[in-house]
Amino acid sequence: VRLDKLLNTDDFRKAAKRKLPAPMFHYLDGGADDEWTLADNTDAFTRYPLLPEYLKDLSVVDTTTRLLGAELKAPLILSPTGMNRLFHHEREPAVARAAARHGLMYSLSTLGTTSMEDVAAASGGPKMFQIYIHKDRGLTMEFVARAKAAGYDALCLTVDMVAGGNRERDLRTGFLMPPKLTLSSLSSFITHPGWTFNLLRNSDFRLANVAHRQDALASGAMGVISYVNSQFDHSVTWDDAAKVIEAWGGPFAIKGILSPADAVRARDVGASAVMISNHGGRQLDGAAAPIDCVAPMRDAVGADMELIVDGGVRRGNHVVKALALGANAVSFGRPYLYALAAAGEAGVDRMLGLMVDEIRRSLALSGCATVAAAGRHLLAPERPAVY
Ligand code: FNR
Repeated sequence: VRLDKLLNTDDFRKAAKRKLPAPMFHYLDGGADDEWTLADNTDAFTRYPLLPEYLKDLSVVDTTTRLLGAELKAPLILSPTGMNRLFHHEREPAVARAAARHGLMYSLSTLGTTSMEDVAAASGGPKMFQIYIHKDRGLTMEFVARAKAAGYDALCLTVDMVAGGNRERDLRTGFLMPPKLTLSSLSSFITHPGWTFNLLRNSDFRLANVAHRQDALASGAMGVISYVNSQFDHSVTWDDAAKVIEAWGGPFAIKGILSPADAVRARDVGASAVMISNHGGRQLDGAAAPIDCVAPMRDAVGADMELIVDGGVRRGNHVVKALALGANAVSFGRPYLYALAAAGEAGVDRMLGLMVDEIRRSLALSGCATVAAAGRHLLAPERPAVY
């Protein structure tokens, strides 16, 4: 891959498609059911045309912001994504190091293929750990204690995994975790020899944060969805969230909320932030695009709660639109995974650099010298319907 030829997130997607065997690429790229929500997550940004304002001093554009207890160089977070070993042998530490280099917050999933201690050792940058509550409730409090000891800035609790989403691409490609050579996937492994060679060199796909507690995982034959269905606790309520928030006692986000009423509940149980998200269109197809939920949620929770929009963010102008609607920051998953798959740490480094440049340029072109300057004045009033 000639990294200097990759100019935007879609270029990285195409590069990832060339590198990854089909089961891995489609697990990364796909969504649930008809993938309507997946497509709408990005399409929805077109519903918010910008009205820039000019002749201000824009000689210096400051993209820094304070969020989730950390200083960030741009209002951009790397969303938690499980099992990064599927996409590249350099896995989570490579992504965390690249994020730290750009001063961005990295989030590590419970289902990562690197332990939270190893990620902390790899990167001194801003970090968040993402929790799924397992039936083994002891694990949750263990996560809280370990994240504290390892120096994480924030925790987030993902709440939209009450069942595994219906991801039909994974059924068609025969996706398995850990990956296995099967008759149906054989040709796609053979035609992606780079990835397959690294599989033979380093085939440690353990879910490092939970492996010590899950005998089922050690044997490793389970698909992700059956793992979710058998190991996660689907009886979790707001009372349980409140207990985790209290035990943590620091910046805390509830991830996977779209409803303003839920955002008010999150605030009332003590969360400091919401990650407005539909899990990248991988869970409930038909769910609203996160960007459409920002303004109503801001109106419901007031000015103090931190709102982070997660899903479909692919361009710097998307970030400006999110800020203008009332978000404090955006977060994204697939773009950095495409970059990891394309070229490991160097790929993520390049992609994040492009994105931060786009944010700076889009802020300037909108007439904003700071993140805080991007307000609702940037949004065109309702346009008349076209008949
Ligand atoms: C995810 N996502 C996710 N979310 C989470 O809370 N815990 C997790 O383990 C994962 N795992 C995961 C794996 C993969 C391959 C993807 C693509 C996504 C969802 C993720 O945090 C985020 O919500 C979406 O990726 C946002 O949408 P975009 O940016 O991918 O469009």
